[in-house]
Amino acid sequence: KNVNVAIVGATGAVGTKILEKLVERNFPAKSIKLLASKRSAGNEIKAGGNTYIVQETTPEAFEGIDIAFFSAGGSISEMFAHEAVKRGAVVIDNTSAFRMDKNTPLVVPEVNPKELTKHSGIIANPNCSTIQMVAALKPIKDQYGLNRIIVSTYQAVSGAGVEAIDELSEQSKQFSDRSEIQAEVLPSASAKRHYPIAFNAIPQIDSFDESGYTLEELKMINETKKIFNDYEMSVAATCVRLPVVSGHSESVYIEIDQDNVTTSEIQALLEKAPGIVLQDDPTAQLYPMPLYAEGRDEVFVGRIRKDLNHPKGFHLWVVSDNLLKGAALNSVQIAEELIN
Ligand code: A2P
Repeated sequence: KNVNVAIVGATGAVGTKILEKLVERNFPAKSIKLLASKRSAGNEIKAGGNTYIVQETTPEAFEGIDIAFFSAGGSISEMFAHEAVKRGAVVIDNTSAFRMDKNTPLVVPEVNPKELTKHSGIIANPNCSTIQMVAALKPIKDQYGLNRIIVSTYQAVSGAGVEAIDELSEQSKQFSDRSEIQAEVLPSASAKRHYPIAFNAIPQIDSFDESGYTLEELKMINETKKIFNDYEMSVAATCVRLPVVSGHSESVYIEIDQDNVTTSEIQALLEKAPGIVLQDDPTAQLYPMPLYAEGRDEVFVGRIRKDLNHPKGFHLWVVSDNLLKGAALNSVQIAEELIN
């Protein structure tokens, strides 16, 4: 065991899962330092039979750290990632702070592991919705080419952090008590208006830019092109928040390069793809659902159909736990690849 690890945002929705995955996968950590805000300093977190004391995130906290996982929001990454790198750490960043930076590899280990050799201290973990989609599409792209993606997402509240999970459960209670529903967190903490997520669907994740797309949609579009290293590909996204705790679902329409491909050929490809589980049997009502993907490492794919009009078009339904493959697991897999 020879790696000193730090987790920034260790008390958060993703940070706690990173610690769990490090323990579960026997990551060769000599030490694990849990960092968060000053508010949580001194709090205890138990994992794998050990008790860890949370410390405040400061530049000096990164002395002696080899790998630092960041999951405390973009502004914290901007403030501290370079401080960690300066002290010799490799940063694996879960926020959007560096994803589109030219010198920062954006990595899903099943898709573009070679990018890991090119980093200069920081490696970015893609957006959760992007990760599960590119993992499912990679085998199809390699075999048949991929020209176009149109995706609509059905995203869980845990992607917006612990406060959003709490808000969903509070609002569910307010709804059943017939009291007034209080909305303060979603669609995003910085938004001018907040809407209830319980018993609702909110077509806004993150803020809007002048194009009319949300930043979450633009992340899916731009990150997909970067990960596939294909800037000609046509990608469009609509991202929607649903009252699901964990597990993002996606309806994905694709157009491939060839026109004689069958649904069973696509199914066969996905069946043997790493990290993918095919759940696709309409006669048995077998299809992926977020409730069953929660706590699982894999990306689940089903409902694969050929488009009824376009000879190169296919539809897929892709589900994965956004806190695991979408965040914590992918980050830990990046660290494992680095060590190997
Ligand atoms: P804290 O619990 O001390 O506020 P989530 O994504 O679930 O909302 O979690 C956000 C994470 O980011 C938490 O671990 C939170 O720690 C951490 N965080 C928030 N603000 C800061 C800060 N100023 N410095 C370091 N960590 C922070």
